Formats: sequence, structure tokens, C-alpha cells
Amino acid sequence: MELDLLGTHADRAYPILAGLVVPRPIAWVTTLHENGTVNASPFSFFNVFGDDPPLVIFAPGDRDDGTPKDSARNAKRTGEFVVNLVSPDLAEVMVRTSAAHPPGVSETEHEGLATLPSSVVAPPRLAAAPAALECKVHSIQEIGSNRLILGIVHRVHVRDELIDPATLRIRQEHYHPVGRMAVPDWYCRTADLFELPRPR
Ligand SMILES: Cc1cc2nc3c(=O)[nH]c(=O)nc-3n(C[C@H](O)[C@H](O)[C@H](O)COP(=O)(O)O)c2cc1C
Repeated sequence: MELDLLGTHADRAYPILAGLVVPRPIAWVTTLHENGTVNASPFSFFNVFGDDPPLVIFAPGDRDDGTPKDSARNAKRTGEFVVNLVSPDLAEVMVRTSAAHPPGVSETEHEGLATLPSSVVAPPRLAAAPAALECKVHSIQEIGSNRLILGIVHRVHVRDELIDPATLRIRQEHYHPVGRMAVPDWYCRTADLFELPRPR
């Protein structure tokens, strides 16, 4: 089957692309609302795009009424966000935090999620996350209803058991973040690993 995502099949672009380009990593993004409450929402239009400088992008789409999601608003206003990574034990609560709450209602309070202060940004990180990236907004690209939020990673927090202190490599055998599969509701575990050395 051949599909025209800018023409006949435009209304299927989301389920087709979000079903084919899998698994996607999940950024559980914490931001600060102007009333001081902590917003936590998941985004799977997310990845790391470079290391010099360390660059991540997450992409909230606008709501149906054309207004930006709270995470996008907060990141733009404050210039800061934290990407929390998601281990399998956090999958259910992560999904619950995707529920639409009125702006200023804290998902962390609603779900009883403990937070820890960040080191160089104001939004806190999630205490239960296996790793967290403290980010400052580099720029925001608005393309149609997509808002690509480019962030520079200033600090990384990672649980001690997930990183080799001598090499500072992540211990892949212990780190198994949840991946997002076809929308709306499929996920994968990432513990089925194989190693494939590159040609030298
Ligand atoms: C696993 C998962 C991934 C998601 N990824 C995205 C995404 O990449 N972009 C987006 O706009 N919404 C995404 N959503 C939906 C948002 O989390 C949801 O709209 C949330 O209410 C936004 O919250 P906010 O308005 O507080 O920013 C995702 C939901 C889930 C459960």
C-alpha cells in the first residue's frame, strides 16, 4: 500500500508514522507553571540529536483548539525543562499523567509523585525516575501544529547502579526504559538485547 500523507491520507499521518517509527523513547517532561505547580507529561516525539552541544528535542502538538499544551507553554515561558526517563515500574503512572488537567493542576501532586530539586534549572526532577536530564531551551520551532522544543542538556542524573563509575558508560544490562509502540496504547520492554560490534 502506498500512502499520501499530505493528500488523501493526511488524517492518518499520525497513526501511520507513530505506528511505523517505533519504538520511540519517552520523555516524561517536568516544567513549572507560573503558579509554581509542577507539570509532568509524557512525550514520545522525543530524542537526543547530538552531543556537542548535548541536544534533545521533544515535540508537543497543539491542542485541537490551536492552543499549546502546558508543557510547551511552560518551557517557552521559563526556558527550562527536565526530561525524566521511564522505567517499566513507572509506566502506568507515566500514562496517567497524560490525562488532560486544567492548566496549573499539578500531575505530580495528583499522582503523589515525589520530586527532587534540580541543580541548574527550576523545574524539579522526578525522584523515581532512573535518570533525568536538566535542560535549558535553545529555541522553539513551530511547524504547523508541532512545536519542536530544542533543549541543551546541562546536567544528567543517573542512578548509581545504571552507570559504570570507571568508564561512565551506561550499564545497558541494567537500564531498560519503556518504549512507545503504535498509538494509542502500545508499549515495549527493552530488556531483549543483543550486541553487535561495528567493523573497525
Ligand atoms: C506515552 C505517551 C507519549 C505521548 N507523546 C506525546 C507527544 O510526543 N506529543 C504530544 O503532543 N502529546 C503526547 N502525548 C500526550 C500528552 O502527554 C498529553 O496531551 C498531555 O496531557 C500533555 O500535557 P500538558 O498539557 O500538561 O503538556 C503522549 C502521551 C503518552 C501517554
